[in-house]
Amino acid sequence: MLPKYKRVIIKLSGEALAGDKGFGIDPGTIKEISHKIKDASELGVEIAIVVGGGNIWRGRDGEGIDRATADYMGMLATVINALALQDALEHTGVDVRVQTAIDMKEIAEPYIRRKAMRHLEKGRIVIFASGTGNPYFSTDTTAALRAAEIDAEVILSAKKVDAVYDSDPKLNPNAKKIDKLTYIEVLNKGLKVMDSTAISLCMDNNIPVLVFGLDNPENIVKVLCGENIGTIVKED
Ligand code: GTP
Repeated sequence: MLPKYKRVIIKLSGEALAGDKGFGIDPGTIKEISHKIKDASELGVEIAIVVGGGNIWRGRDGEGIDRATADYMGMLATVINALALQDALEHTGVDVRVQTAIDMKEIAEPYIRRKAMRHLEKGRIVIFASGTGNPYFSTDTTAALRAAEIDAEVILSAKKVDAVYDSDPKLNPNAKKIDKLTYIEVLNKGLKVMDSTAISLCMDNNIPVLVFGLDNPENIVKVLCGENIGTIVKED
């Protein structure tokens, strides 16, 4: 199979690592995802990963906790996930570097754009952890920002749901799958593809977002090879 892209950002939600447990890191799940990411990297695609932290902590759910503090806690959660993912990926035999937006030199490299790009050129997978380093910005926004910075062609947003629907498919059995959307449609319809900061950044920098389900980890390779699964958000 020939890949359609040269350099991509994979946005993995924290929940994707929890498997059916809904919380924490499920060893079987992270192992399975890592093997598929390895397959994808063996296609010759340069892969950077932005991982969320919702399986451990969600800033917006921190009731009673100052929002900025809750967001910093979420950023730390992404570091835990990044280290687990690095370990699981390394066990498959690929080279991985973790870079954090918040300096924690004993744990991982600091985020340095040119170094990240060099790692990618050398075939290493780079995991971006601790979001943008700022509260009030989501890991989706991190994915959009890093994609713009490192010239990624697309953001592959791996979710629990296999695509974007016109209503919540868990609540509405007649919800319709949407194949294609523009950024403006996402913003105007309030669709929960990404938050509005992230979508605006993608729109301003013309970065397509491909939403797909991680229910089947094979999907990572499929989307990289241009198979039409999920939903694509791009300019008309
Ligand atoms: P090259 O420049 O291509 O040799 O890349 P490299 O990443 O292999 O070299 P480097 O000597 O920078 O890193 C060696 C190892 O140390 C890698 O696993 C890095 O992730 C890690 N490393 C590099 N800088 C830091 C840092 O500031 N903190 C931590 N904790 N690890 C680092």
